[in-house]
Amino acid sequence: MTQKQILVGATLISTGNPFTAPWQEAVHINTQGAVLIDGPVIAQVGNADKILADHPDATLHDHRGRLICPGFVDAHVHFPQTAMIASWGKRLIDWLNTYTFPEEMRFGDPEYAAQIAGRYLDLTLAHGTTTVCSFATIHPQSVDAIFTAAQHRGQRIVAGKTCMDRNAPEGLRDTAQSAYDDSKALIGRWHGQGRAEYAITPRFSPTSTPDQLNALGALWAEHPECLMQTHLSEQLDEIDWVRGLFPQARDYLDTYEAHGLLGARGLYGHAIHLEPRETDRLAETGAALVHCPTSNSFIGSGLMDVSGLAQRGIALGLATDTGGGSSFSMLRTMAAAYEIGQLRGTALHAAQLLWLATAGSARALHMGDKIGTLSKGYEADICVLDLSSTPAIAQRSAEASDIWEAVFATIMMGDDRAIADVFVGGQRRGGLD
Ligand code: GUN
Ligand code: ZN
Repeated sequence: MTQKQILVGATLISTGNPFTAPWQEAVHINTQGAVLIDGPVIAQVGNADKILADHPDATLHDHRGRLICPGFVDAHVHFPQTAMIASWGKRLIDWLNTYTFPEEMRFGDPEYAAQIAGRYLDLTLAHGTTTVCSFATIHPQSVDAIFTAAQHRGQRIVAGKTCMDRNAPEGLRDTAQSAYDDSKALIGRWHGQGRAEYAITPRFSPTSTPDQLNALGALWAEHPECLMQTHLSEQLDEIDWVRGLFPQARDYLDTYEAHGLLGARGLYGHAIHLEPRETDRLAETGAALVHCPTSNSFIGSGLMDVSGLAQRGIALGLATDTGGGSSFSMLRTMAAAYEIGQLRGTALHAAQLLWLATAGSARALHMGDKIGTLSKGYEADICVLDLSSTPAIAQRSAEASDIWEAVFATIMMGDDRAIADVFVGGQRRGGLD
C-alpha cells in the first residue's frame, strides 16, 4: 500500500479560463485547503478539516500560510541554452549567430548534453517548474539526454530534435532526409515512454528549406499524436527575412501551413507581430501560442497581445524561453507578462498569470487533463509558494488586504527562494521544512 500524503495550506483552484470568463469565476483560492496525494496522483482536493479527519494516518506537510499550486508548466524552452543565458547586447539573428549556435554545437558531445540536461532540470525544479516543453539541438543525443534526465527525475516532459538544414553553421545542419529519419527514430524511442512526449521541431522557417518543412509536415501527418513546436513572428527583421526566403507565402504562418505544419497540436512561440489572417487561421485551427515575455523584452522583440489573443479563444501558454529569456523562473516570467500587459494597457490579474503558468500552459501542451490543475485524478506535480520569502516580500504581504494581494507581491518580487516545496508525481523534490 502506498503512503498517502496531505499538503495543508491555501490551494489554487482553477475551474475555467480566466481570459474568457471573469477571473473570479474561473480561479479561486481556498485559504483553508488541503490536497491528498495517493502514490503518483492527487486523490482529493478540498477543505483541510475534512481531509485530515478522513485520513489520520497520512504523512502531513504543513504549509499553512503558503499557496499550494500545480507545478509550473514552462511551454517553450531551449535547455541547451542553459549555459549561455543572459548574453549581452544582440537582437535575434545576431544573438543566434553569436551566442546560441556556438553553444548548441557543443551538444554533439553526449557527456556535455547529459551534464547540461541534468543541470537544467535541477535548476527549473528548484524554481517550481515540473514540466517543460524543450527544443534540443540538431543532435539526436541531445534529445536522449533531456528525456533520460527527465525520466530519472520522474518528470512529464516534451522535447524534440531541432531541425535546421540552412542558414546555420557547418556542424549544426542536418538535411531534409536526416531530419525526418532522426526525428522518426526518436519518436519511436521516446514518445509515450512513461511521461515523455515527442514534439516534431523545425527551429523556424529561416533555418529550414521548403523540402525540410515538407518532410517534417509529412512526419507529423504520420504521427498526429505528436506535438509540433516552432517559432513565429518574433522580430520584424526576422519577418522580412522570411518574406524574402518564401516569396510565394501569404505571411509567416503560411510558410508552416503550406508545408503541413499548422494544426491543433502545433505550438508557436512568440507570435508577436501577427497579421489578421494569421490570427484568424490560428483561431480556426485550434493551434496554441506561447508567450515568452522575459525573452521578448531581453532580445527586444516586442509586446505580444496576450489578452486579445486569449479572448479569441486561442490556447495560450507561458514560457521562459531559456536562454533567450533571462530567467529560469516562472514567477519572474509572470512578472514580465504583467509588465508587458501594462505596456499594452491591460493589467493582468494574479489569477490570470498563475493560470497561464499552470492550466493555460498545460492546455497548450494538450495535457490539460493530466497536469496544471489541482484536481482529483491529476498527476501530483505540485509547487508550494512561500508568500513571505524575503524581507521585502514579507513586509508587503503583511500589508495585503486579501490573499490575492499577497500572491501578487510574490509574483512580482519572488524567485526560487519562494519555492517552499515541490512534488513530482507525488515524490517530494526538495523543500524548506
Ligand atoms: N528563433 C529561432 N531560434 C530561436 C531561439 O533559439 N530563441 C529564440 N528566442 N528565438 C528563436
Ligand atoms: Zn524559442
